[in-house]
Amino acid sequence: MFFSIPRFVVGSLILVSITQPSFSKAHPSSNKRLFVTMGSDLSEKVFTNKSQKVLESTNGLSVVEIEVDDMGNISHEAHEGFHRCGGFMVHESYEKALEEVQNDSSRQFAKNVSFADYSINQGSQVNARIGEAREIRIRKMIQKLSSFKNRYFESETGLESQEYIFNEWKSIGSGRSDIEVKKFKHNSWPQDTIIAVMRGSSDEKIVIGGHADSIAGWWNRSRATAPGADDNASGIATITETFRVLVESGYRPEKTLVFAAYAAEEVGLRGSKEMAESFKKNNDTVLGVLQLDMTNYNGSDWDIALVSDFTNEEQNKFLGSLIDTYLPQLKWGYDRCGYACSDHASWTGQGFPASAPFEARKSKMNPHIHTGRDTLSQSGDNANHALKFVKLALAYVIELDN
Ligand code: BES
Ligand code: ZN
Repeated sequence: MFFSIPRFVVGSLILVSITQPSFSKAHPSSNKRLFVTMGSDLSEKVFTNKSQKVLESTNGLSVVEIEVDDMGNISHEAHEGFHRCGGFMVHESYEKALEEVQNDSSRQFAKNVSFADYSINQGSQVNARIGEAREIRIRKMIQKLSSFKNRYFESETGLESQEYIFNEWKSIGSGRSDIEVKKFKHNSWPQDTIIAVMRGSSDEKIVIGGHADSIAGWWNRSRATAPGADDNASGIATITETFRVLVESGYRPEKTLVFAAYAAEEVGLRGSKEMAESFKKNNDTVLGVLQLDMTNYNGSDWDIALVSDFTNEEQNKFLGSLIDTYLPQLKWGYDRCGYACSDHASWTGQGFPASAPFEARKSKMNPHIHTGRDTLSQSGDNANHALKFVKLALAYVIELDN
């Protein structure tokens, strides 16, 4: 599953890029054209006969100009040829895409400056909150979200499912004037990112997020059946339960807690990218970002795999210590995604410390994602595995907050 790019491939691609005609770089992009970054191995495979589309290749990453219609084909190649489930990232301009490629090798092992205090000393508070997490709550939320035909970023049901999360989070937060649930609007597509903010006395932020959209098939995705129970109703249900436990226990944070259900992850991490960019633009201090994407398929001997690329090493160590301290019965380890596989990469890209605890070793991940078979039944119709992630998220929030 882990694809490392042989050196000769990288070398030949750099050569290709030097000999590229540069005419297309100067062209202003029309509505239907997009600049994306993807592994050079993938771009080479997809664009063998249209190599003029590869504008730049460095360090195994390429900038490619595509048409919206190419997206299905690229996803298909990524999936079939490289066992990736999308494998590319969309940028608003050629310059932005180029910046991404040039920054990438340093980003993969990002040691973004962190202002966080990773000491662990909130034992009684953490243990009490962990005891309040409920499997049935997580299960019910997964069932509800996966009952939408799909949660695709531009489908009717993908708007309805975000409305559902908005109302659910509003009802959890109702009665607390320090909690506000908002819609973060995106200009280029209709699905909003949903955000619940629990204001603390400090404006420094802790972000707990995951993507709410789902995807399946290559054509007519707005009508496809994409229950996305594991990818990623499980993450949203994990976040929702973490939020509920904190609210119902009367937890009042010192820092400002931000819970996020991102739009449009499955089409290139687009929702989280815009949100992270907006935080950056506002000069927000983000102490830490926790990404919850796929938490309910217990596929390997590890309970939790900490994604080691496109994440923050110091914060990852902190998460490992939290597991050892509060969930000592769990087995965990480090594993690479091999590419910018989820929204944590959007935050890392803006210089914020992000981590992503994942459900299994990557080679043993849920094989049904992005199909009509990604249902709760693949996880035995329960949310026992996701419950572990709620406990970890509670420990993370409370310890980072104090
Ligand atoms: N949930 C997956 C991410 C994932 C897949 C993590 C496999 C770990 C193992 C996510 O929703 C996804 O499908 N990501 C795409 C990339 C994205 C840029 C479209 C992927 O993995 O191809
Ligand atoms: Zn996915």
